[in-house]
Amino acid sequence: MNVILLGAPGAGKGTQGELLAERHGLRRISTGDLLREAVRNGTRLGLEAKRYMDAGELVPDDIILGLAREVLGASKENSAGEGGFLLDGFPRTRAQAEGLDRLLAELGLRLDAVIVIDVPNEILIKRLSGRRTCTRCGAVFNIYFDPPRTPGTCSVCGGPLEQRSDDEPDTIRRRLEVYQAQTEPLVQYYVDSGAVVRRIDGDRPVRDVFEDLTKALES
Ligand code: AP5
Repeated sequence: MNVILLGAPGAGKGTQGELLAERHGLRRISTGDLLREAVRNGTRLGLEAKRYMDAGELVPDDIILGLAREVLGASKENSAGEGGFLLDGFPRTRAQAEGLDRLLAELGLRLDAVIVIDVPNEILIKRLSGRRTCTRCGAVFNIYFDPPRTPGTCSVCGGPLEQRSDDEPDTIRRRLEVYQAQTEPLVQYYVDSGAVVRRIDGDRPVRDVFEDLTKALES
């Protein structure tokens, strides 16, 4: 099963993507995670991407499509017989969606569903400003919705928690604007292209959202 998870920054794509990948044996591919890894490793891609990410802007389409080609191509070679992929945070523009269509055709893969997680803007802002991530194991917490047992310390491994550099108020505002202008129109793009598109109310507890997403994938 090959699935795209769409949703604004903070909608819960990463949180739900990990749960769905585990439950359904999917390979989760997050362009945001791949870019952050490149930034941490100081690669040329990371250095180029960082200035866009810190400003809340999208990394240029040609860079993202190159990355997607690399990862999806490798994923296909390594995943014969496995459950498929879950795209989190890609595509984000019409050019990326068209590029993905071409890439899937080339690789002989098809898209089975597009799932959109809807959350109101005021909740998104609170989720993003409250997010804290463990620098050691990557576990994600939220000081408002899912606080760690000890402030500033990961409840899983005891590592230090940090705030993402793009979770500052001005950058959050810009990321939400960019989503509305460039990514939300992809919902209509996929409806028009005849894909199976499902919308899920993401403003509920993680477990409830997960159950609905699972039902949507199984239907
Ligand atoms: P990316 O990392 O993809 O960020 P994003 O789309 O902005 O999404 P987030 O990771 O912020 O949120 P999420 O929806 O995953 O929510 P999460 O589960 O973490 O991209 C970062 C940047 O990279 C972009 O701005 C861009 O510059 C660049 N980039 C990436 N892909 C690109 C592309 N394709 N093209 C161009 N540029 C690209 O949850 C958020 C918080 O809420 C957490 O604290 C969590 O604990 C909490 N939470 C989650 N669910 C719930 C719930 N149900 N109830 C209460 N709290 C919840």
